[in-house]
Amino acid sequence: SLPVDSVRALATSLTATDHIPTRYIRPEVESEAVIIPGEDDEDEIPVIDYHKLLDPELSDAECSKLHLACQNWGFFQLINHDVPKEVSQRMMFVIEEFFKLPLDEKLLLKQRPGQPDGYGQLFVVSEEQKLDWADILIYHTWPLHLRTIALWPTKPSTFRDALDEYSMEEKKLANCLLGFMAKNLGLYPAEITGNLENGVQVARINCYPPCPVDRKVLGLSPHSDSSILTLVLQVNDVPGLQIKRNDKWLPINPLPGAFIANVGDALEIISNGKYKSIEHRAVTNTEKERFSIALFHGPEGDGTVGPHPELGEPLYKSMDFESYTNLYLSSKLDGKSFLGRLKLNK
Ligand code: SIN
Ligand code: FE2
Repeated sequence: SLPVDSVRALATSLTATDHIPTRYIRPEVESEAVIIPGEDDEDEIPVIDYHKLLDPELSDAECSKLHLACQNWGFFQLINHDVPKEVSQRMMFVIEEFFKLPLDEKLLLKQRPGQPDGYGQLFVVSEEQKLDWADILIYHTWPLHLRTIALWPTKPSTFRDALDEYSMEEKKLANCLLGFMAKNLGLYPAEITGNLENGVQVARINCYPPCPVDRKVLGLSPHSDSSILTLVLQVNDVPGLQIKRNDKWLPINPLPGAFIANVGDALEIISNGKYKSIEHRAVTNTEKERFSIALFHGPEGDGTVGPHPELGEPLYKSMDFESYTNLYLSSKLDGKSFLGRLKLNK
């Protein structure tokens, strides 16, 4: 069980920093090394230009860049992605407006027992584990029959349309990117996800309230995503995402309008380790509230996650996607421990 219904309400009511419940305090975080941009070599994730991928003259070179990004970084920024600015802006607006609502309004959308969709938390599996300094909304956005519309906000009144429009644009973009990624792996797109059209898409909308205690609290625990491909939009200018690079944390500062894309565990498995699903986390800010939205793209609901047979001797177990998802959701977020459980001991 959780000590609070809302971290935002807790953050607003704090009168002293020692009023933060101990379940949010992680003393070890302070001693972990963070890369200072500009001071270390190779301190920027690759930038992939979507227009170049689509341009017959430039596509081959940009595809090679994408391949290297997936192999060596597991993360990249995507620019010129053709998702209209207005679509992202409408989404950003409704996210900020929703989290400003009074708590009792938000609690009307509270997750139902055993269901991820709604307002609440994920990955809380014990009374002892540390908790994330964030309030979240989770929704299945594709295919349509998985949508739990009754739990989608109606305040602000444009929320549902904004999420519908934004998720559909991201779905188109993810399918196209996955086409290029499949080609780079020597596969047909359907060999990655089953029918791309039917691939499951889930939206996770994050609100990270300011936290007066610095470097001992995390907005989101270190983890790797269970998805094939994740696309993240940072809603306001407050940075917070950090990725693991050479045993240090590298802060990510998105270019204006860019999406942060990352390879998830399912793609590391399907590519039999050729592509890397990288551990990442979100830190808090002492002054400012931060918002982001992550869209997770997975295989078809009745598909299988396993190494492609043409990519060498399998290094990971194969599992049906439903069991795979249930296993992920019933574990706490703990670095790459989920993926570790699926490795075959060779
Ligand atoms: C995540 O979904 O892993 C973090 C996204 C973010 O807050 O930047
Ligand atoms: Fe993530």
